[in-house]
Amino acid sequence: MLTAKLHAPPAVELVNVTKRFGSFVANQDVSLRLAPGTYHALLGENGAGKSTLVKCIMGYHRADQGDIIVGSASRNITSPHDANHLGIGMVYQHFTVVPAMTVAENFLLGRSDLPGILDWREEHRKLSAFLKTAPFRVDLKARIANLAAGEKQKVEILKQLYLGSKVLILDETTSVLTPQEADEVLGMLRKMVDKKELSILLITHKFREVTGYCDEITVLRKGRVAGGGRVADLSVSDMATLMMGEQRLGKTTEKEERVPGEVLLEIKGLRADRDNGVEAVCGVDLTVRSGEIVGIAGISGNGQRELVEVLGGQRVAKAGEILLRGERFGGTRPEMFRHQINVLPEEPLHNACAAKMTVAENIALRSFERRPLSIGGWLLSYREIRTRAADAVTRYKVKTPSLDSAMGTLSGGNVQRAVLARELGAGTTRILVAANPCFGLDFAAVDFIHSQIIDARNHGVAVLLICEDIDELLSLSDRVLVMTAGRLVYEAPISKVSVKELGEKMAGH
Ligand SMILES: Nc1ncnc2c1ncn2[C@@H]1O[C@H](COP(=O)(O)OP(=O)(O)OP(=O)(O)O)[C@@H](O)[C@H]1O
Ligand SMILES: [Mg+2]
Repeated sequence: MLTAKLHAPPAVELVNVTKRFGSFVANQDVSLRLAPGTYHALLGENGAGKSTLVKCIMGYHRADQGDIIVGSASRNITSPHDANHLGIGMVYQHFTVVPAMTVAENFLLGRSDLPGILDWREEHRKLSAFLKTAPFRVDLKARIANLAAGEKQKVEILKQLYLGSKVLILDETTSVLTPQEADEVLGMLRKMVDKKELSILLITHKFREVTGYCDEITVLRKGRVAGGGRVADLSVSDMATLMMGEQRLGKTTEKEERVPGEVLLEIKGLRADRDNGVEAVCGVDLTVRSGEIVGIAGISGNGQRELVEVLGGQRVAKAGEILLRGERFGGTRPEMFRHQINVLPEEPLHNACAAKMTVAENIALRSFERRPLSIGGWLLSYREIRTRAADAVTRYKVKTPSLDSAMGTLSGGNVQRAVLARELGAGTTRILVAANPCFGLDFAAVDFIHSQIIDARNHGVAVLLICEDIDELLSLSDRVLVMTAGRLVYEAPISKVSVKELGEKMAGH
């Protein structure tokens, strides 16, 4: 069946799907029906098996048992290409479009029926005609590298629609979007679902998106279906209970009244370039004191990543200086250790982990050359490394088959937990720099991490929080700044923050 011939979404039904990785069962007897023209949410805590299940539908994984029925027949889907032919397409959390190419080139790149010689004018005409019917506008000539995150995600979705997908799987697609962008994208898709042009399987950790846009839910717990039903019949607390079982959530820590203490982190006139030599941090001055959380709001791509990299010793500043407890910081490991500064960068799997190394080794990365993890700086104590890692994994509830599993095989949220366990867990931090610490975490983990950060602040840690989620930023920060085009353009104590002004500054007004 060719996608071009599909006018309406086919029904997709999973019947008793089981997927194992070695002896670990990631999905057990999962059955789920995505009725044509419905918006269906797939929920579950980190590591519940959501991504694995949809990867079985897309042919990235082969289910060990069970059937995948598309339309009226059971299908043998062995690659994403097969899935596309059945009208099923997927959009991920991270971008798959090619940055150096234009929007139009990216659309064509995805096609399997591309002729050897392209009639560009004709293709452009067809693309423009498609875009007239598309739910959102994009500039076909724009280069992907120049688009903001929200625009890129729209291109990803449009690409799937252009390729003829009638069933769209969104795996935490909205996590890189601002709430406004997520509303725009999900709302537009909702209209197509209402017209029965599309079915959607949405993986998200945000209940707001479920209650706002979805018709039905299926909840996975530990790889099995824990329940589901119509959104209209379920409360958020019902959904949360289905996700977590009856286990009780820990109490969230409250911010204690306290006056910030001495300045632990000071940044003066800092300038740094992007990889392409264009200036990303254009003269930043800020201070963070002991016992306060300073939040930097801003749309991603405005220099936050580079600022965090300089603080983590991963990028060299070209001007200005950083002082840790009054001492000039050169970005070396011994200095970071001495000043007890811990940095959690964006996309930890790429920027803060070695994907092929084990969970235990990754948790030891910060301190493996020191006692007690090593003796004399060269002899590693594997027993000590494993004991530490086991403790971190238990406290941060990292779901991993074992301490020896490769970090890259953990679910997205569990990578984030493992890195947080390493950066926050030792309890010796004095300065913490965290970029989007709750990215991809389930709601219980978000509560836990917020409590850890507040607890650190209550104990005198200086926290610099870089965060795209305004609600999160406002709930944690004592002082709020906005970073736009490499500069800090707004500053206010939390009691004086005007959300309207914050939004305007973020948009560059
Ligand atoms: N390639 C793999 N090899 C071994 N184990 C894997 C592999 N992929 C996933 N797993 C394991 O399967 C389990 C489910 O992972 P999955 O990515 O499906 O979770 P998820 O529900 O998408 O979680 P998250 O919300 O964190 O994204 C995890 O415990 C993970 O470690
Ligand atoms: Mg996942």
